[in-house]
Formats: sequence, structure tokens, C-alpha cells
Amino acid sequence: MRIASVSLLSAFARLPSLIRASATAQLPASVPIKSYCAAISPRSLHSQSAAMTLPERKPFTADFFFRQLFDTESSTYSYLLADASSGEAVIIDPVLEQAKRDAQLVKDLGFKLKYAINTHMHADHITGSGWLRQLTGCQSVIAAASGAKADRHIAEGDRIEFGRHSIDTLATPGHTNGCMSYVIKEQGCVFTGDTLLIRGCGRTDFQEGSPKSLYENVHAKIFSLPENYRIYPAHDYKGQLESSVWEEKRYNPRLTKSIDQFIEIMENLNLPYPKKIDASLPANRECGVYDIPKE
Ligand SMILES: [Fe+2]
Repeated sequence: MRIASVSLLSAFARLPSLIRASATAQLPASVPIKSYCAAISPRSLHSQSAAMTLPERKPFTADFFFRQLFDTESSTYSYLLADASSGEAVIIDPVLEQAKRDAQLVKDLGFKLKYAINTHMHADHITGSGWLRQLTGCQSVIAAASGAKADRHIAEGDRIEFGRHSIDTLATPGHTNGCMSYVIKEQGCVFTGDTLLIRGCGRTDFQEGSPKSLYENVHAKIFSLPENYRIYPAHDYKGQLESSVWEEKRYNPRLTKSIDQFIEIMENLNLPYPKKIDASLPANRECGVYDIPKE
């Protein structure tokens, strides 16, 4: 450390005196270097003022295990959550092709997977809940309204417990008629499936989708949560990992519009027919159990 400081000083001493003078002249003695750097950058100024209004982030409790997992092909996020004390775990929105990875992770960490929970009946990939059920002995969970088979069917208000932690369920149909969002109040987070994505939302043009329902449910049930709640979606296509209620209420380009404008946007997206829908829906209706790869 001392050697580095000495060599830095001697290097500075070798600078031509004119350069030295102009460099020091830009640094008023009364302004600390840190705030000087912020002051000269408009971008820093902007982020500094945003930071002052951001709601305070709530850390997860020490006994809450959280792991975000990703499937590159479908850009799906799965979430392994556990009570670190008892080892009871759940996974939200597992993907068939990643079931072995997820089961191995559960085993490595010494957890017992209690539930594989789906936010809805996916159209773009096959759920991993059926295969995880076979690999780990967990139970599959989905909303009764989805029309899909599962070991446990849920409706709004049901509570899903793992160890001392629990998930509160909200019915948030709109992307599909069976969409649920999962809230963990103590940790200040909500898993929104495809109902609310980061700066976006799920499409509403199939599976009994309804832009009106989606808009109303997001506003009534998700945007009414505390603003510092973290939002964890089922997908992201741009590499963003999480958002917050505060952020989406301000910056979601669709859901900040009026309901009429939102419906117009959603009805004119002209999206292509989902590539895997013909394989995914029949498999997911059966909880993904009949399409398990043979080994
Ligand atoms: Fe979906």
C-alpha cells in the first residue's frame, strides 16, 4: 500500500508543471473528490436525484433462501425458495429441461422440495413440475382456474407454507384466466408470472386472455402493494433480473397508460403465434408429466 502511494506521488511529480497546474485547478479545495465527480456528470446527477426518492429496500431475512434460476431457451426465471432452518423448499415456475438441474441444486443444498408451483399454464415452455415431482417427491401446485391438473389446486387467499415462511396467493387473471401472483410479505416481494413483466406484461390474445382484467388486476392487486416490494417476473428477454412496485408504477410503458389506451395497445400487438404453444399447452394441462425426456 505504502509503495503504491509513493510511486503514485513520484509519477505525479514528474508531470510537466503546466499539466499539474491545470489538473489541480479543476478541483476546488472545498469540494470532496467524490461529490466533485458527481457534479461534473449529468448522468450522475440524474441517478443521484433518483436514488434520493427510491423507497428503502428491505433485505431478506437471514433464514430465507432465495435463488433465481434461468432457462436460456425460453428466457424463463424459476425461483427456488427455502426456509433455511427447516430446509423446506418450493420452486416457482420450473422448466422441464431444467428439472434435473433444479433437483440437483435442491439435493446439494440439503433441502426438501415441498411444492413445484406454477404461476399459470405456460404456453411457451413445458413446466418442470411434473418431472420434479418424480425426481424429488414434491407436489405440484397451480390455480384451479387454469384448468390444469396438479396435486394441489389453489385460489386467491390460499396460503402456501414452507417451513416458517408462507406465500400469499393473489388471483391476477388477464394474461391467462388462471394467472396467480405470489406474495411473501415478510420478505417484501411478489412473483408476478407473466402478469407483470419488467417494463412490460404478458400478451393477452390467447388462453382466455383479457387486457381489461390484466390492467385492473395489476393496478388493484400489485400496484397497491408497498412500493419497495421487489417484483420477480416469470421471464425477461433483456437481461433484467428484478424490478419493484415503485419502478413499474412509474416506468412500465404499458401499465402507466389509461385502461383504454392499454387495451388498444394490447389489441394491436400483432404478435406471432407462440412457437411451442401446440406442444406446451397439452403437456402443461397434465402438469407436464407426460412429456418427460426418456433417459
Ligand atoms: Fe405465459
